[in-house]
Amino acid sequence: MKTYTNVKDLGNLNKAVREALEIKKNRFGYKHLGTDKTLLMVFFNSSLRTRLSTQKAGMNLGMNTMVLDVNQGAWKLETERGIIMDGDKSEHLLEAIPVMGSYCDIIGVRAFATFENKNDDYQENILNQFIKYSGRPVFSMEAATAHPLQAFADLITIEEYKKTARPKVVLTWAPHPKALPQAVPNSFADFMNEADVDFVITHPKGYDLASQFVRNAKVEYDQNKALEGADFVYAKNWAAYTDPNYGKILSSDRSWTVTAEKMALTNNAYFMHCLPVRRNMIVSDDVIESPQSLVIPEAANREISAQTVLKRMLESL
Ligand code: CP
Repeated sequence: MKTYTNVKDLGNLNKAVREALEIKKNRFGYKHLGTDKTLLMVFFNSSLRTRLSTQKAGMNLGMNTMVLDVNQGAWKLETERGIIMDGDKSEHLLEAIPVMGSYCDIIGVRAFATFENKNDDYQENILNQFIKYSGRPVFSMEAATAHPLQAFADLITIEEYKKTARPKVVLTWAPHPKALPQAVPNSFADFMNEADVDFVITHPKGYDLASQFVRNAKVEYDQNKALEGADFVYAKNWAAYTDPNYGKILSSDRSWTVTAEKMALTNNAYFMHCLPVRRNMIVSDDVIESPQSLVIPEAANREISAQTVLKRMLESL
């Protein structure tokens, strides 16, 4: 595996999940693959889970791991070509990326959407420059439009907890005080569309995701109707995607918060969220603390999704 930016990079998804579950049972059994190999993780944005789980995954594989927080202690980086660099940015990505590549064997990159320009965000300018210029296998640790390590962990979790062969999985929008990118719901949809699940997306009107991620998923604007009979409820906020409202908050309707009353409409569904989560905006205290909440095992599976991707990258070096 040379890149990991979306579900397609995993090839056969059932096989990838089986491999992940094998790794979970024997996470220190592949140390020989990473001996004397170095993982560099580059963060343009904050992280708790991705940073720790990916570093742990690399260590499980015997790798040395290095972390660069671009906005804390590194030179400020220019990302646009052709700019006269007379401002506060001291270094260009076009030099910085190959330099970073010269110190490591595999690179992970986190670079969120800025919401300044939809085309720039959806062209994945920063991640693609790493793929083009680093000379190393590159994986996304959440890019502008996708978070495939999270969605892979989510699918592993669903496989572990499902009680029927084809569970009903509902992705529901929920309110949030800040405008958030579409990366998590995009990737969750990307994976659920490839998995053997009955997949429904629900959100207020105006929050439609990009068609390349929604594909043939059922979109239901009535959240109560969508939740009926659900086996898994995946809550997430995202800002508007469609023009002219890209990156804007269109609703703060608290009736979309996932509460015990909402969960009562489901088939005793499990509750999922990628974290970090704003309690009593996205989900009520009682739901996230309930035995049906999978937020902790879901976060724990981030180590497994990262290790599966890193293992495949090490095997391809
Ligand atoms: N879910 C997730 O990616 O968490 P962090 O932003 O803390 O890494």
